[in-house]
Amino acid sequence: MEIWKVGFVAMVLGLSILVECGVSDMYSSKLVHRFSDEVRKVRVSRNGEVGVVWPQHRSFEYYGKLMNSDLQRQKMKLGPQFQLLFPSQGSKTMPLGNDFGWLHYMWVDIGTPNVSFLVALDAGSDLLWVPCECVQCAPLSASYYSSLDKDLNEYNPSGSSTSKFLSCSHQLCELGSNCKNPKQPCPYTVNYVSEDTSTSGVLVEDILHLASGNRMAANGSARAPVTFGCGSKQTGGYLNGVAPDGLMGLGPGEISVPSRLAKAGLVRNSFSLCFKEDDSGRIFFGDQGPAGQQTTSFLPSEGQFVTYVVGVESCCFGSSCIEQTSFKAIVDSGSSFTFLPDQIYDRVVKEFDRKVNATKASFEGYPWQYCYKSSSEVLPKIPSFTLKFTANSSFIVQDPVFMIYGSQGAVGFCLAVEPSGIEIGTIGQNFMTGYRMVFDRENLKLGWSRSDCEDLTDNNKLPLAPADGNSPNSLPAEQQNTPNSSGVAPAVAGKTPSNSAAPTSRGMPSKLCLTKLLFQLLLVSSNFRWSLNTFTL
Ligand SMILES: *[C@@H]1O[C@H](CO)[C@@H](O)[C@H](O)[C@H]1NC(C)=O
Ligand SMILES: *[C@@H]1O[C@H](CO)[C@@H](O)[C@H](O)[C@H]1NC(C)=O
Ligand SMILES: *[C@@H]1O[C@H](CO)[C@@H](O)[C@H](O)[C@H]1NC(C)=O
Ligand SMILES: *[C@@H]1O[C@H](CO)[C@@H](O)[C@H](O)[C@H]1NC(C)=O
Ligand SMILES: *[C@@H]1O[C@H](CO)[C@@H](O)[C@H](O)[C@H]1NC(C)=O
Repeated sequence: MEIWKVGFVAMVLGLSILVECGVSDMYSSKLVHRFSDEVRKVRVSRNGEVGVVWPQHRSFEYYGKLMNSDLQRQKMKLGPQFQLLFPSQGSKTMPLGNDFGWLHYMWVDIGTPNVSFLVALDAGSDLLWVPCECVQCAPLSASYYSSLDKDLNEYNPSGSSTSKFLSCSHQLCELGSNCKNPKQPCPYTVNYVSEDTSTSGVLVEDILHLASGNRMAANGSARAPVTFGCGSKQTGGYLNGVAPDGLMGLGPGEISVPSRLAKAGLVRNSFSLCFKEDDSGRIFFGDQGPAGQQTTSFLPSEGQFVTYVVGVESCCFGSSCIEQTSFKAIVDSGSSFTFLPDQIYDRVVKEFDRKVNATKASFEGYPWQYCYKSSSEVLPKIPSFTLKFTANSSFIVQDPVFMIYGSQGAVGFCLAVEPSGIEIGTIGQNFMTGYRMVFDRENLKLGWSRSDCEDLTDNNKLPLAPADGNSPNSLPAEQQNTPNSSGVAPAVAGKTPSNSAAPTSRGMPSKLCLTKLLFQLLLVSSNFRWSLNTFTL
């Protein structure tokens, strides 16, 4: 019997965007599920109005202007201090499997003396928070988790000589107007749409320890003051295995770590996330990507730049593009799979079905409708799937299908795309595999280039190879879902060294498939209304 905590996965996974509110008495900012009615309202019928943007606070233009003036200021000085920065314990991100909701995590060191936190990465929200002065926090003991070999830490403001409470009068204190005394510590609450999931506490400022790994700085390290939540009370999913030791928001908001690092002049206002086939990855603050990368502009939603949205012009298989397949999509590093608006979905799957040379099959329990038989002996040719953007850039999806394994090896595959049910899609992690994704907030652009997620600070080995146009995928050797290369299944995870990004144990095919299956099932069956179920096998 194994307990699988698949229920929480996509909850934090950035299936949410940060929406400013500030109305009621107990509120600063709220994470709204991207498929919620609220978001739907924001999204509808804005086509054609993209140019009409008010430079409101937090608006797209506002950020554009802010970034430009920051840029000017930096140019007048020396330019950013570092080319690239990453957490002092390394740039690798790690998948910790089902136990941790399949999110990407990394270790960050905070404070003086420094304390390590294993934070989840979420491009769908802004705030960094860690468990702190715990009234209600997730278990922090290693014994509670199968993939940890040391206890998780709690942040203690009085234990760090560089810790400061942010006062209510601070410009980053959104709840400041509700404080009785402007000098008192600034309270915060972030509500996630997933049932009752939230974090709250007070905002603090302390030192985040970073490394640069290049010679621009004498000792290759940086101490950056960042503002984060001292999360004394978490609820919902945060108590049940997702982000037990905190979460780092990578969104466009002023309070996010990438924003703070850029504002302080440490790095350019950009960062990259790289997703490797084995589910590990890298993060680099300041990375604007290689010269040869492809790019597309971020689009405002209702004039607001609150999350990373891009406009797909058309969906193509090989060189032939399907008519009327333009849509907007959230680029969500945290979402495991990809969702297309319903009409686009229909056109794409039908075309795929026409192009693929395989027999349709149905595999019970999988969320995808377009599945086909295959075997380890006969490898099907998967039509190359490409998203085309304006200005002639294209994104070739390296691995649009999900392989299904039986005890004897590959038995089939599915096009791993689902209908979103709303007018906006989500480009999930499965589509980003094999790419270095650049979130260039300075130029309001998304960039991408093929990558093995090597250490960019090693000998300046920048991967310059542009996406290669027409290599059809062959299966299954290079697929991310092969039993050998996939993320570790909780049942066989064992203890991984806490600092090591690569889980060493390998999932047995059947177990692995089962895990992934459950995971997806939940993603689908719950239709993004999160129930805090724990599934028992
Ligand atoms: C963190 O503290 C440990 C000692 O507790 C020290 O060895 C390490 O160098 C520190 N790391 C940073 C980035 O300051
Ligand atoms: C280098 O290290 C010294 C002390 O070890 C520190 O004061 C200084 O700020 C560091 N330089 C950078 C650029 O981080
Ligand atoms: C389709 O697959 C069969 C074997 O499964 C193969 O004999 C045939 O040549 C393939 N057709 C195309 C057009 O690739
Ligand atoms: C787009 O790219 C194709 C091939 O790379 C080229 O033939 C075409 O002229 C380009 N179109 C524009 C508008 O740049
Ligand atoms: C998986 O690993 C086994 C043994 O570790 C090896 O024999 C097999 O070739 C590998 N399969 C793939 C697809 O890499």
